[in-house]
Amino acid sequence: MSVLITGIGELTTNSESTGDALVIDGEQVAWVGSSGNAPAADERVDVEGRAVLPGWVDSHTHLVFAGDRTAEFGARMAGKPYTAGGIAVTVAATRNATDAELSEVVRRHVAEALKQGTTFVETKTGYGLTVSDEVRSARIAAEHADEVTFLGAHLVPPGEDADTYVELVRGEMLDAVAPFVRWADVFCEKGAFDYDQSKAVLTAAAAKGLGLRVHGNQLGEGPGVRLAVELDAASVDHCTYLSTKDVDALSSSETVATLLPACDLSTRQSLPPARALLDAGATVALASNCNPGSSYTSSMAFCVTTAVLQMRMSVEEAVWAATAGGARALRRDDVGVIRPGARADLHVLDAPSITHLAYRPGVPLTHSVWRRGERAI
Ligand code: NIG
Repeated sequence: MSVLITGIGELTTNSESTGDALVIDGEQVAWVGSSGNAPAADERVDVEGRAVLPGWVDSHTHLVFAGDRTAEFGARMAGKPYTAGGIAVTVAATRNATDAELSEVVRRHVAEALKQGTTFVETKTGYGLTVSDEVRSARIAAEHADEVTFLGAHLVPPGEDADTYVELVRGEMLDAVAPFVRWADVFCEKGAFDYDQSKAVLTAAAAKGLGLRVHGNQLGEGPGVRLAVELDAASVDHCTYLSTKDVDALSSSETVATLLPACDLSTRQSLPPARALLDAGATVALASNCNPGSSYTSSMAFCVTTAVLQMRMSVEEAVWAATAGGARALRRDDVGVIRPGARADLHVLDAPSITHLAYRPGVPLTHSVWRRGERAI
């Protein structure tokens, strides 16, 4: 089944392809060009001057959870600081939930994101923290998300010894979870895991063939960025507090700096130094960090709007970071881009240009969405 889309007011491809029309064939983009030269297709859809861009690639979420942390959020808005300790509240609720309940939470949030133009989602384990709870989190995540990351090293479970727990994570837990995941991640931060503990987990994961990611520099400067670059991690996520050395290290590496502005706002931190990273030549991605504690939003548009209005990114930089940048953070070139051969994940805005994402902050602008070549919204 092929579909010819015409009448595109502004086409953002993140590739060399240009034009005002494109053809989807099966799950892929088959052709991009000017409508005057368009090949025949089974169906034709006129988007009447609307902007078309790749679907959002949300490269950082934590969707396998149960329970609610509204009270913690309310207390924070009344002045209490965010700490990693809140993760334990979600761990307790997640361990008590049934498989069906957890599966429904992931399904619901992936569907909520799709309605807003997110066509590709990475999600993590990390609220189980026992071998069996991490395995079931990974299995359930894999039912709904495009990419799954093992985050057994999210927090040392309350009452457990940190070094003993690290041995469990890098040994038995990693062995059990590895078949379900492509990535391993560590929360390298004060109150979570230090440099040596994080490195021990990540090197064990790399030896198992997993790709690496790091949560780093979220609550203060620390070794997360250094470790991520040293191990050639695909991304280091948060990057809220960076030294000049961190910025330099990222700019001369393949490690993507994934910025999570909704999290910084929800935890009352500063916003990350996007301009310094971009000006130094680092690759920047934007992601939602959807989770019940530090960032309970699935809205990539909100992240893009914030990046433009408050982080001095241009609209083009922010949209690239939330599409091709997310793909780069997952070391993929088949999503976040519109070109022949790419996955047909398209986001049609109810606006003539991507500039409206920042020009009309807070206005829901998703008109329609194709995912894997199927009209999803
Ligand atoms: O990315 N930083 C660590 N993990 C999550 C927070 C999860 C939580 O508070 O439940 C994050 O912000």
